[in-house]
Amino acid sequence: MSDNGVLFVLFGATGDLARRELVPWIVDLARRGTLGEPFRLLGVARDPAMDDAGFQKLVAESVTAAGRGGDDLAAWCGKHVRFHTAYEPGHYDDMARLVRSIEQDGGLSGNRAYYLSLPPSAFAQVIDEMGRVGLAKSPGWTRLVIEKPFGRDLDSAQALNATVHRAFDESQIYRIDHFVGKETVQNLLVFRFANPLFESVWNRDRIAHVQITVAEDIGIKTRGAFYEQTGCLRDMVQNHLTQLLTMVAMEVPAAYDADSVRFEKVKVLRSMAPLEEDDVVFGQYAAGVVHGKPVHGYREEGDVAKDSTVETFVALRAHVNTWRWHGVPFYLRTGKRLPRRLTEIVVTFKEPPVRLFETMQCRLVPPNRLVMRLQPDEGFSLLFDVKRPGEPLLLENLPLHFDYAEAFGALPTAYETLLAEVVQGDQTLFVHADEVIGSWKKYTPLLERGLPVHHYSAGSWGPAEADALLARDGHAWYVGK
Ligand code: BG6
Repeated sequence: MSDNGVLFVLFGATGDLARRELVPWIVDLARRGTLGEPFRLLGVARDPAMDDAGFQKLVAESVTAAGRGGDDLAAWCGKHVRFHTAYEPGHYDDMARLVRSIEQDGGLSGNRAYYLSLPPSAFAQVIDEMGRVGLAKSPGWTRLVIEKPFGRDLDSAQALNATVHRAFDESQIYRIDHFVGKETVQNLLVFRFANPLFESVWNRDRIAHVQITVAEDIGIKTRGAFYEQTGCLRDMVQNHLTQLLTMVAMEVPAAYDADSVRFEKVKVLRSMAPLEEDDVVFGQYAAGVVHGKPVHGYREEGDVAKDSTVETFVALRAHVNTWRWHGVPFYLRTGKRLPRRLTEIVVTFKEPPVRLFETMQCRLVPPNRLVMRLQPDEGFSLLFDVKRPGEPLLLENLPLHFDYAEAFGALPTAYETLLAEVVQGDQTLFVHADEVIGSWKKYTPLLERGLPVHHYSAGSWGPAEADALLARDGHAWYVGK
């Protein structure tokens, strides 16, 4: 726990992710006392020109840029923030000494969170050096935080797990999938397991199909080099969308704790049928118009090959072969340069066995749907049919709606939540090694097959083949308002 304070050691501390996402939240949480007292932040990076004063300035700038500054920020950084350069083995011996002296001077009891904001290729050296100089163990707790990508296929994920397990036990490892830290995603489990009304219909008897859409209007921005090596399946589907799938499909855990929740998620992955070629559509955006502005195609983006066949869109149909879900398709889709930013889970319920009202020249009656909007405009709607007043008899599909902002105001960000959970020592919202492996087992064969990539215009909802995937089953993609 945070009782005797914590030393937060941030590797890759001068990098882009650290400056934009991590430093502002670490500092903000620490200043609010959420990370415990006393608190110290030690930035570690390869930069030989950086020192304590330079890093304190960088931290203050990042925090201010994130709108979390304040008059006392510089003084706070002067007291709480240190820096260490490390790029060769001897530097880790120095670091071990520095860590101990920071703890001693600050009255910390040895609780340490190590955050590797580094490319996975750098993990092995850092972890081995930490093990060698004794930093993997401490008088308090020691936790290791790592970010996706957790490998790029099954073999590399297994190798990465083996690397981190060389010095750290699984109970010390906090793998971040930031989607799981989003309030609306955490709420999925509350929604399902605190409300028996929904849990009682959450099965193959009542549900026709489930759709999970993670649409982005942005392109790949300046990440061409990364994206060419990664593609959408690795960047979004193997992790974020699959996490959402497991949370929708999992059984009731024995308890709301890390082991029980993650155990159930792994069971979903094990029950997923192998993905066949005709279950999956890959797409790549061509030039088009998004929000009224013309945008480049993927192949015209910086650091992208002119003949690239990397996918920027994936749609797929998954089957979870459990007693609860047998025969219920789960349709997943995600892509860049779609018409708008939208993350939504849509549960479509089965039609009534007798279509009483369709015989009376009413228009087709849409089925009941539960639309869970995870971002933006967080909330959910239960869509059902009502009679429009008057004659002739007409039905209208209308929502019962819940809106997060209306009920609670602004929501905490995923990083804010996850960083606090690391210090609390709760792994429920973090990804277990078995989940990583379970997921790669399903997706690696697809990557090895080299699927065709269909082009779609930027600003559309993806290639026509993605619509055909559902049309074959008599369904269509649903997009909330
Ligand atoms: C990241 C991906 O993990 O998630 C990005 O690498 C993607 O490509 C991002 O844009 C989406 O996250 P969010 O929280 O903005 O929906």
